[in-house]
Amino acid sequence: MKILVVHGPNLNMLGTREPEQYGTLTLEEINSMIGALAGELGLEVKCVQSNSESEIVDLIQDGGSYDFLIINPAAYTHTSVAIRDAIASAGKPAVEVHLSNIHKREAFRRHSYSAGVCIGQISGFGAMSYLLALHAAKQHLEQ
Ligand code: DQA
Repeated sequence: MKILVVHGPNLNMLGTREPEQYGTLTLEEINSMIGALAGELGLEVKCVQSNSESEIVDLIQDGGSYDFLIINPAAYTHTSVAIRDAIASAGKPAVEVHLSNIHKREAFRRHSYSAGVCIGQISGFGAMSYLLALHAAKQHLEQ
């Protein structure tokens, strides 16, 4: 079972980026946590980060290389019909993840273009949001 984890724009800056919103863990540290849990759950995982909308669309379109998508589209959550359409057309189950609780923040962050084509959204648990998504992936793939 292969899981693709896509981190969107500016998430390469985690660790120093607005720590009051996103915590102090770096993306590398979060990816290590994801890798460790994936190993325990018997899942194969690949984590990628991109600041580019078109690169993210290309990654999602490569449906042959993964069974389940975990995606934090970051700012593109609130703007990108292209990423929504890519998730819908890839036909792979997906979970949307956010470190912060987007429903507790500015009004423009409360709308997600992508959540409607995902199984669900996990928002507000910091790095744990990704780990909860991995558990969701495992359960979904075993159903
Ligand atoms: C985010 C929330 C988005 O609104 C924001 O643009 C991000 C990070 C989160 O993980 O909390 O870059 O997706």
